Amino acid sequence: MNADLSTFEQYESSARSYCRDFPAVFARAKGSRLYDENGRGYVDFLCGAGALNYGHNNEYAKQAVMEYMAGDNIMMSLDLHSASKRAFIDAFQSIILAPRGYRYRIQFTSPTGTSVLESAVKLARKVTGRQNVVAFTNGYHGMSGVSLSMTGSRHHRQAMAYGPVTRMPYDGYIDGFDSVTLLRRFLEDGSSGIDLPAAVVVESVQGEGGLNVASPEWLRRLRELTREYGILLILDEVQAGCGRTGRFFGFERAGIVPDLVCLSKSIGGLGLPMAVLLIDPAHDQWRPGEDNGTFRGNNLAFVAAAEVLRRYWTDEAFIRGLAEKEQQIRNALTAIANAFPRHIVGLRGLGLMQGLEFRSGDDTSALIDACFLRGLVVESCGPRGQVLKLMPALTIEPSVLGEGIEIIAACCHELFATTTEAAGISEAVSATA
Ligand SMILES: Cc1ncc(COP(=O)(O)O)c(C=O)c1O
Repeated sequence: MNADLSTFEQYESSARSYCRDFPAVFARAKGSRLYDENGRGYVDFLCGAGALNYGHNNEYAKQAVMEYMAGDNIMMSLDLHSASKRAFIDAFQSIILAPRGYRYRIQFTSPTGTSVLESAVKLARKVTGRQNVVAFTNGYHGMSGVSLSMTGSRHHRQAMAYGPVTRMPYDGYIDGFDSVTLLRRFLEDGSSGIDLPAAVVVESVQGEGGLNVASPEWLRRLRELTREYGILLILDEVQAGCGRTGRFFGFERAGIVPDLVCLSKSIGGLGLPMAVLLIDPAHDQWRPGEDNGTFRGNNLAFVAAAEVLRRYWTDEAFIRGLAEKEQQIRNALTAIANAFPRHIVGLRGLGLMQGLEFRSGDDTSALIDACFLRGLVVESCGPRGQVLKLMPALTIEPSVLGEGIEIIAACCHELFATTTEAAGISEAVSATA
């Protein structure tokens, strides 16, 4: 049965985007499965673009939130002290920050990814008294003023963006080219034309930009350089954080300690809006109310957020499971990539944000449509939409993960296989998925 999209098509703005790839009206969801209003099920590899790391209606978070609501507890609290905010801070402190030796203060900013980036850059500008910011090719930091100016995509920046931003090549942007050395040279040379920046803003793994992974070594050198010049290093962990790369923070694998860390998307546990800026205490120089906003006290999000921290990030089996699922995805995608070398360049990404880079964005688009028809919701990323991006829930069962990947393999087979390629692919993938 075709979905009735007339209300959306007639009344909703043309700005709508993801829904154009998935012409269904979704009504229910549980774990890693979405159901449309006709009752058709889909495996979800989109996961609210990374806001649903613990799956839809995560049972632990949902129960905690339902109990909380049933007790007429405080729902909206601006930035008043609330019991649930205290419980979140205590859980985050004891489960995430203290075991890693981090001493960050926690600022609750307005609840989106773009707003936590705005706050981070604003603070860096205040602390340093400087305006320029370094951001990277293919970076994605959101759609509001400052965040948009740091976002690489021309398509996204065309409506509005303002600087000052100096764009540098991300790690691996040009083969064999080292952008940290270039940045160092620019900073040393008073005539380079690059003003000493307030901050360097970087993703440890670029999600929207094409699943580009910064090497630990590059991140470490960036940390050293920024420290040497008194530049604040801001890690945008909005997408790569909250376990997406296999560890809570994507930068942990480099052993660095950024000055500021931005979290949003999955920090709210159940897909509820919430964002957190982690601030090195030395830089916590806000005056009271200087970075204000109404919606910084979403207590349902605090409750869900604390619950998933307690349930998952103290559970060794969950953390081990992330590495196992990472390997499961890598093995299966390698088999697919090997089977279709004429279409697929190779694997991208890390942890549970991996994908396949195709030679053409047209291939990815056709694949997304074919996957949807077979019951898989999966999106693309990269400057030409050429990377098929798998973002399953961290809590996905290995069998459901395998089911989704087999749909991808079957669709590649349907779209791209020559007769010789067709022979080996099914076996190779089902052996790994
Ligand atoms: C790394 C990164 N930063 C910032 C954002 C912006 O987040 P939001 O869409 O919640 O404003 C995103 C969104 O995808 C992101 O991936």
